[in-house]
Amino acid sequence: MTDQKKKKEKQTTHFGFTEIPLAEKTLKVRTVFDSVSSNYDLMNDMMSFGVHRLWKSSLIDQLNPKAGMDIIDVAGGTGDIAKKIIKRCDDKVRVTICDINANMLQTCRNKFIDSGQISGPNIPTLVCGNAEDLPFADASVDAYTIAFGLRNITEIDLALKEAHRVLKPGGHFLCLEFSQVASPIISELYDKYSFLVLPKLGEVIANDRESYVYLVESIRKFPKQEELVSMLHKAKFSRINFRNLSGGIVAIHSAWRI
Ligand SMILES: C[S@@+](CC[C@H](N)C(=O)[O-])C[C@H]1O[C@@H](n2cnc3c(N)ncnc32)[C@H](O)[C@@H]1O
Repeated sequence: MTDQKKKKEKQTTHFGFTEIPLAEKTLKVRTVFDSVSSNYDLMNDMMSFGVHRLWKSSLIDQLNPKAGMDIIDVAGGTGDIAKKIIKRCDDKVRVTICDINANMLQTCRNKFIDSGQISGPNIPTLVCGNAEDLPFADASVDAYTIAFGLRNITEIDLALKEAHRVLKPGGHFLCLEFSQVASPIISELYDKYSFLVLPKLGEVIANDRESYVYLVESIRKFPKQEELVSMLHKAKFSRINFRNLSGGIVAIHSAWRI
């Protein structure tokens, strides 16, 4: 075994507020999304009062997709981002969803089939893969989007490095993720809602309190706006900036491969 492998075996990371061996996180996250996949869309609407749709539309506005572009939506789950991009471009865009969880991709596939779309340019290509080791060639895509995905990835640095690798020079990276609320008053209310209401909603609607405890805790452990900017710098991205939405409950980070 190489020294680097031995070192990794000893490393730990966070799973929500619990410290676990690094090697166990990806599987634990996969278990969460196996469990939530069938209720995922309903829970998103309930928990955010539908506002996640506006946040996602803001991401698409900033992406400003054009006909002919090759776009990957990493950790794309049940396909909200892909669907919006395809709709915006009148099907003239190639979108690939890459997600590590086959159940989330199956839910996505079923959604497209239920809306009468089975094949053709108006459905995304679905690829089961890890953001830390993307199954795409170097410099092969025009844009990389990730919405509420980065927080769940074990080694964020690796995922950012991979994002940079697969983007063409001039390619755009966009990340929508929960972040740090700016106002102390909103922050206090938001904490109460997150820790008291969300796990209860998970318990009542999805019969799964634990996954929603993980959701709330993982948000608190995710790098703050400026920290993510530093990580993007480290991954060699250029022209990095972010903007807060809903007072910083979420932020969109934008960066370019030059
Ligand atoms: C909160 S969901 C977000 C889904 C979708 N992007 C959305 O905004 O509704 C997080 C997704 O990240 C995926 N995921 C977690 N770790 C991943 C990894 N290492 N590589 C790719 N996808 C991953 C999960 O399977 C899940 O579908």
